[in-house]
Amino acid sequence: MIDKNHKQFGRKMDSAVVHGYQGCDPLTGAISFPIYQTSTYKNPGLNSNIKFSYSRCDNPTRAELEDTVAMLENGLAGFAFASGLAAVTAVFSLLKSGDHVVVSDDIYGGSYRQIEELWKNFGVEFTYVDVGDIDAIKTSVKPNTKMIYLESPTNPMMKVADIAAISEISKNCGAYLVVDNTFLTPYFQKPIPLGADIVIHSGTKFLAGHHDTTAGFVVVNDEAIAARMGLILRTEGSGLAPFDSWLLLRGIKTLALRMKKHEENAVKVAAFLKDHPAVEKVYFVGLPEHPSYEVSKKQTTGFGGMISFTIKDVNKVEQVLCGGDMIMFAESLGGTATLITYPQTQTHASIPADIRNRIGITDRLIRLSVGIEDAEDIIADLKKMLG
Ligand SMILES: Cc1ncc(COP(=O)(O)O)c(C=O)c1O
Repeated sequence: MIDKNHKQFGRKMDSAVVHGYQGCDPLTGAISFPIYQTSTYKNPGLNSNIKFSYSRCDNPTRAELEDTVAMLENGLAGFAFASGLAAVTAVFSLLKSGDHVVVSDDIYGGSYRQIEELWKNFGVEFTYVDVGDIDAIKTSVKPNTKMIYLESPTNPMMKVADIAAISEISKNCGAYLVVDNTFLTPYFQKPIPLGADIVIHSGTKFLAGHHDTTAGFVVVNDEAIAARMGLILRTEGSGLAPFDSWLLLRGIKTLALRMKKHEENAVKVAAFLKDHPAVEKVYFVGLPEHPSYEVSKKQTTGFGGMISFTIKDVNKVEQVLCGGDMIMFAESLGGTATLITYPQTQTHASIPADIRNRIGITDRLIRLSVGIEDAEDIIADLKKMLG
């Protein structure tokens, strides 16, 4: 649990990301927070109340990272997991058999797979809805609804959920509002002040930012949920390792610089794609014609670096994915390098074809994670790829 009166609070985001929660290691003064590569800790005596006893439960490097991410999200407590999906698992572990969840019909394919292949087997009930449609969310709520779960913007269709409006619904029915904030990070969007109860991240993406580790986060803003989440992390044994925690701490130091550059490049790339004759439609929350452009402007401070688009000719898919000199065809997103992804066979392969096609994940949909290279180089490569 973090102290919201801590000296780091009130600083601007660009400073907060550089200094983290404690600023340096309180024990040694080390400015690069040390990697406490230990599994266990000397216990000073019988019945002593020590914070660190065993690294599955608590580790100082992980604790500094968790407090940093909680602080950036304006939450009360953060939890760092071995991957984004481990964080998703921990959040659904708050539920029990017979509970109902209203969930976005457009989510990361791995989260969808977890719902369908794991949680439904444990008697948790799910209703998929379009999170851009407030009335659809309202009518999906049932007496046993315990959670509303969404991404905003969604992966990969870039739909935007009005977080404040949905939090009214969740508060009225006593359900947790869970927002996966992977695409925008707390640099551009803070769901907790908008009314969310729980924030999830794939830390693998923009927070780590360098394609070098997997990680996940849960941030909560309530003591009782924090206590339960701590128990889940310790009991599932899915906490992030010390070295990976350090990689995340290091990545977060440049989050502000990177997010600004991702966005600056994405705005240019979206404009280029929009005018390209081989492109049919561009999905980018920063385009004024995006149906939720005003909602984005209201609840975020930036549009991020994620773009999806459809091409007109399905026969060109391979050339578009693999025809670049610099842009690489790969899963994942949010790192320094521009990556191009084919949701149908990669990130969203677990979703049945009829559902995929209904929500727009067709054989002509391509997702782009715009990196921090020079925008002219990205556009030159895309020109070559699109032919
Ligand atoms: C929005 C979103 N949430 C969660 C995840 C899962 O994260 P990880 O791959 O770190 O397990 C992903 C992965 O792509 C994602 O895009």
